[in-house]
Amino acid sequence: MIDKLEALRSRIASALAGVKNLHELEALEVAELGRKSEFMLSLKGLGELPPEQRRSAGQKANEIKSGLEAAFADKRQALQEASAGALAETEWIDTTVPGMPPPAGHLHLTTQAIDEITEIFSRIGFYRVRHPEVDWDWYAFESLNMPPDHPARDEWETFFIDAPPHPRLGRMVLTPHTSSGQVREMERRPLPIRMIGISKCYRRQMDVSHVPMFHQFEGLLIDKGISVTHLKGVLDYFARTYFGPDRKTRLRPFHFRFTEPSFEVDISCGICHGTGRLEAGVKCRLCKDGWLELGGAGMIHPNVLTAGKIDPEQWGGFAFGWGVERTMMMKAGLQIPDIREVYKSDFRFLRQF
Ligand code: DAH
Repeated sequence: MIDKLEALRSRIASALAGVKNLHELEALEVAELGRKSEFMLSLKGLGELPPEQRRSAGQKANEIKSGLEAAFADKRQALQEASAGALAETEWIDTTVPGMPPPAGHLHLTTQAIDEITEIFSRIGFYRVRHPEVDWDWYAFESLNMPPDHPARDEWETFFIDAPPHPRLGRMVLTPHTSSGQVREMERRPLPIRMIGISKCYRRQMDVSHVPMFHQFEGLLIDKGISVTHLKGVLDYFARTYFGPDRKTRLRPFHFRFTEPSFEVDISCGICHGTGRLEAGVKCRLCKDGWLELGGAGMIHPNVLTAGKIDPEQWGGFAFGWGVERTMMMKAGLQIPDIREVYKSDFRFLRQF
């Protein structure tokens, strides 16, 4: 019995010596020391020995068994160390080598323009706000002195949301301009107000200078003793800071329902410097008469203040609203021929800015 175990021990030991990796080791261990191995089955034979032999044979058998287990454990450790050593040889890294920077994108050019516009107005005390881009007719039109069915609304080519109308605020629309934020801001803020609201706007339009989704920035200032002079000062400040120190603005009388008086704001052309002519006396092709149209502005209509629960006898102010993309595209050097390029998400275009 013991001889048999001894013979098995030496067979297993020499097999163990030939094992080259952990995989082989596992296989050998299962085959030779597993529950159904010859060795284990032989151990069971111990019980059949006469009692006087059983004790010493049992001891011996245990010695052999634990000797083998220890040999497997040693082999396992040796193999593990060897494989860690091999890994260290092949997979080492030099932590002092400078890393590879992950590819980084940059802000979309419209976002860059929004940031710049926000920053310029913040320097003269205007705080940035955003108002809902899906809003009620009341904020988009009616509170701005445009009652339902008023023909002036036609200009805003509005998208209507297919939802039940609000009993007081009317239908739901995609905001066609940021002026919808005027009365919202009046409701929200303590006076005086000096906001610059920048949000997305939506209109049914699409050509070289229009997209159905675009952005506007809306200035709104409400305080006491405000006149057109203040408006002109703010517009000139913006034109100088955003477009360049030699640029000027011009107010042209116009009509909006929500301002009185109303103006269209032009900026002197950056190519011909407001003359409409190039050096050789040729007509400037960009502007034709020296000026480029930027957007609307005016002194807030008393009805709009009243809609915002502000007493027009005590308070007054001005507002202006321009397209972000339009303004950005008029910046000298940024010669974008078609506004639709801005939203095609073509990296070859976007990476240039
Ligand atoms: N909301 C007008 C539009 O989209 C632009 C505008 C005109 C805004 C006059 C104003 C304003 O704040 O005073 O065409």
